[in-house]
Amino acid sequence: MPAIVLVGAQWGDEGKGKATDLLGNTGSAIDYVVKFNGGNNAGHTVVIGSEKYALHLLPSGILTPGCTPVIGNGVVVDLSVLFTEIDGLEARGVDTSRLVVSANAHVIPPYNRTLDKVTERFLGKRRIGTTGRGIGPTYADKMNRIGIRIQDLYDENILRQKVEGALDIKNQLLVKVYNRRAVTVQETVEELLSYAERLRPMVADTGVLLHRALDDGKTVVLEAGQATLLDVDHGTYPFVTSSNAISAGACTGSGIPPTRIDRVMAVVKAYTTRVGEGPFPTELLDADGEWLRQQGFEFGTTTGRPRRCGWYDAVIARYAARVNGVSDFVLTKLDTLTGREKIPICVAYDVAGIRYDELPMTQSDFHHAKPVYEELDGWSEDITGCRSFDDLPKNAQNYVRAVESMSGALISAVGVGPERTQMVVLEDRL
Ligand code: GDP
Ligand code: IMO
Ligand code: MG
Repeated sequence: MPAIVLVGAQWGDEGKGKATDLLGNTGSAIDYVVKFNGGNNAGHTVVIGSEKYALHLLPSGILTPGCTPVIGNGVVVDLSVLFTEIDGLEARGVDTSRLVVSANAHVIPPYNRTLDKVTERFLGKRRIGTTGRGIGPTYADKMNRIGIRIQDLYDENILRQKVEGALDIKNQLLVKVYNRRAVTVQETVEELLSYAERLRPMVADTGVLLHRALDDGKTVVLEAGQATLLDVDHGTYPFVTSSNAISAGACTGSGIPPTRIDRVMAVVKAYTTRVGEGPFPTELLDADGEWLRQQGFEFGTTTGRPRRCGWYDAVIARYAARVNGVSDFVLTKLDTLTGREKIPICVAYDVAGIRYDELPMTQSDFHHAKPVYEELDGWSEDITGCRSFDDLPKNAQNYVRAVESMSGALISAVGVGPERTQMVVLEDRL
């Protein structure tokens, strides 16, 4: 199984970090874990025994001994965050020396962090609720062809010219629109160059590296940041992130072509959460929503914001199965639902009296979608110690089967707790 893509099926925080970590620690060894999109807007929590790691920019593979973590060309890199994370892990005894960074990845220059925050403030109630990490402005620069790439750090003349070109525009915006101080070319170049020498040994042509790895029969996991409904093309635009978080993004963001992808795993939570603004049909603004938030500890790994919570939405899962070409789902956080008498699942939407079994074509309709629920019986037994499907209470098994039959792909594993080993693996389903 050489190239496996792992994506989020909902609005992020499904437990992708844990799923990647799981892949690296069971069955065949994972040789490379590639982050292919996003940046330090991501927050992945991996729990190993009593140790808890919160990763943002570094691929989860960094925690797997023997695995080479790769930051692909599709990622936007905040260099100060990169080194803070590396230092933090090294201080805890994690070996980060195998990390490889694509020469083509874009850098988040300091002025884009500022622009992200002031733009959100300026948008007022039309804001996206971004993480404020400079992600959107940096991808916009990439498309506008005024971005700074990792390789530019090694040609000072080019770097200076590029920063000058970008600041010609950015300073107009900062000063005239946002009433902020102008940024100098010198301060920006100096800050970026201050990381160059430490970064140099990690920089590589990761496209070639990964092609050779696949030719040699190595196993490569391509790990998405964010998730399907946050994808800039296929998500709930404009309330999305600025990159392609679906499986197709794994190709553009790594240089591995579609014909080399063998499996697409999607991680889906047993209920739904969302951070930031935007439509969310099953959102619960009542005591049930608060119950899910407390039971599931749904607070952002990156910004600490309380996550919006709601019941499982099978329409979204089916959409994710289709748009990602999902081979199998990992269903996480089933344990969070323990203790409910009844558990609703959204099976379709009602938009102005019309039933929709698929996502409505327009955002306007999606904004008005009301969930059509089916109720399943809950369970009260503690399931955190279950390690096989048969260990699960009958009603929990029924919930898993119902979700599977509605969501368009098989479920190959079920999460029953945050720790690495708290997983029920259903290998017979593959
Ligand atoms: P990611 O962004 O998709 O990697 O997910 P996050 O790490 O942001 O959020 C998922 C949270 O759920 C983390 O705190 C995980 O430790 C936790 N988690 C993952 N799987 C399970 C599970 O099966 N049960 C429980 N209770 N927690 C889980
Ligand atoms: P992981 O990888 C959940 C959301 C933000 C905001 C929108 C745009 O941990 O699943 P951005 O800063 O990317 O321009 O913000 O996207 N968002 C996430 N929500 N999990 C994430 O990552 C997210 N990354 C971005 O809250 O609504
Ligand atoms: Mg997260």
